Amino acid sequence: MTQKQLLVAVLAATPWLTSLAQTPPAPPAGASEQVVQGGHLYQLHCALCHGANGRDATVFPRPIWGPGHDIGKFGTAKGLFEYLQLMMPFDDPNKLSDAQKTAIAAYMLVRNGSLPAATMLPLGGGSAPVK
Ligand code: HEC
Repeated sequence: MTQKQLLVAVLAATPWLTSLAQTPPAPPAGASEQVVQGGHLYQLHCALCHGANGRDATVFPRPIWGPGHDIGKFGTAKGLFEYLQLMMPFDDPNKLSDAQKTAIAAYMLVRNGSLPAATMLPLGGGSAPVK
């Protein structure tokens, strides 16, 4: 078993740790359809490891949006999308479509305060900066 398989197995066995700790937040006021969809997808495919609120220090030490995040390094929505496309969800990066990952990137950037709630990102993210 590789280190990654082991981590995924442990995480799959303990989803209740995260779900007990946090209640999914309501969609931001005025959210676009894409941002609402991204929020649903995030809760289904990402919250297990990153927490309902983008922070779950038990699995991944840094928040993935909000105070203390390190996603500014991706530069733009496109940079964030490309990371998700290659790497996330960590257990199976191929299980979501590009449109679904674009929606998740939009949701994350709205939650981060980088974009207004009514944002609709183009497929693949586009040039909106990650602050
Ligand atoms: C099985 C657990 C797991 C799931 C599910 C998962 N992630 Fe991750 N995520 C990780 C791990 C572990 C890392 C660190 C990876 C590395 O550095 O090699 C990470 C890193 C990240 C990062 C980079 C954060 C930083 O500061 O460098 C982002 C952004 C991210 N994940 C977003 C997502 C999104 C969005 C989803 C859902 C589509 C998702 N993740 C699903 C475990 C997970």
